[in-house]
Amino acid sequence: MSDNRGQFSSKIGFLMAATGSAVGLGNIWGFPTQAASNGGGAFLLAYLVLAFLLAYPALMSELVIGRHARANIVTALDELGQTRSTKRLGRAVGYYGVLVAGLILSFYAIVAGWMLSEFGQSVSQLIGWHTAETWLSSDSLLRHLLMCALFIVLTVAIIARGVEAGIESWSTRLMPLLIVILAGLIVYVLTQPGAIEGLKNYLIPDFTQLTRPSLLLSALGQAFFSLSLGVGTMLIYGSYLRKDDSLPRMGAGVTLLDTGIAFTAGLLILPAMYVAQAQGIAIYGDNGELLAGPGLIFQVLPSLFATMGNVGVWLSIAFFALMSIAALTSSISMLEAPVSVVTERTALKRVGAAWLMGGIIFTVSTIIVLNMERLFDRVVSLTTEYSQPLLGIALCLFVGWIMKRNQLLNELRAGHRDIEHSLFWKIWPFYVRFICPVLILLAFTQSLR
Ligand code: TRP
Repeated sequence: MSDNRGQFSSKIGFLMAATGSAVGLGNIWGFPTQAASNGGGAFLLAYLVLAFLLAYPALMSELVIGRHARANIVTALDELGQTRSTKRLGRAVGYYGVLVAGLILSFYAIVAGWMLSEFGQSVSQLIGWHTAETWLSSDSLLRHLLMCALFIVLTVAIIARGVEAGIESWSTRLMPLLIVILAGLIVYVLTQPGAIEGLKNYLIPDFTQLTRPSLLLSALGQAFFSLSLGVGTMLIYGSYLRKDDSLPRMGAGVTLLDTGIAFTAGLLILPAMYVAQAQGIAIYGDNGELLAGPGLIFQVLPSLFATMGNVGVWLSIAFFALMSIAALTSSISMLEAPVSVVTERTALKRVGAAWLMGGIIFTVSTIIVLNMERLFDRVVSLTTEYSQPLLGIALCLFVGWIMKRNQLLNELRAGHRDIEHSLFWKIWPFYVRFICPVLILLAFTQSLR
């Protein structure tokens, strides 16, 4: 591939970008609430095991393919194939992957738009700008669309600047900020009455839940979504990684940071819910289960902040800034997947490609917003429950069966000279060939029943 492709300038740059992709709404919202409603510490345990046993090897497949080909997912899978049919299959899987990435972004941007609205609402409240505050809390279609558009514009603006000046520099600014806000919020919330009960609910395992297959499935789905797998986002980030960086270590770093931040977010969300309960706010739904969906983020937490007066306004600003930042560093990685395909396979330049793809994705978001009841959940389950695991299997099979063993070894050796003698090399190639695809498939077919 041409040498004027972008590249991350440092290990930290890659780590921040890839962790930024991985850490998103899935970590801060999805993980803690899933844990709470699935046996607390037991879910955490299942999640950690699956993240390292299944998601990490799949992540490694994407990073290896990406850096080997130094190209987008379509070109990369095309080049791996040695026959016409494997090449064609590779391109098809690649196009399907970026299609899924675009679809995920189209619903993700709607939710991120809600986060921006809440953020704007709290800021307007602080400065006494009541017209804006009222408009941002209205349930109008226009508000949903404009805030979604604003979020996509932010995403496009970063992607249009390229790998170093866009993705890397914004991820390295935003990720530390995210961690600081998260830590600050945890410290505050843990000092409030009721918090400890939330901690107990989160951390004390109910092991009887471990025997439910649906728990394992939720944990697996969560791990795949959280590590941004299957759709070529990690693949393209891997393709921007320098040859002298060790892939197994980088991948392990990303997995550790991602699971670490998901765990840490639980220390905020669950205590906050029980603090809300101590204030008289209902945190259980009519069915007796802990509120987990939009009700949690857009009702329970805002009502909690409202009981806290001035401090509450600041907490709300901090919390929704945290959510918006987490969403933005993830959305840029989703947009980069289709944009890299367009720039590397057509004559279109990055800026044009970014705006074009952003425009298409916003059109899809608009269609979803206009048919919320009918489309939203369907798009989420089609992309994350069905497509991501299948694409994950496909990518493992490409590495295991189509990539040659010496190609694999050479790629891994770059940046990790003694890899041949490592445990990683003894286990992983066999693992992605047989175990990973079978286990993912097993989990997947279970979920269809
Ligand atoms: N991992 C992110 C989260 O936890 C979301 C995300 C970013 C993603 N890129 C992706 C999900 C690609 C699936 C595929 O919120």
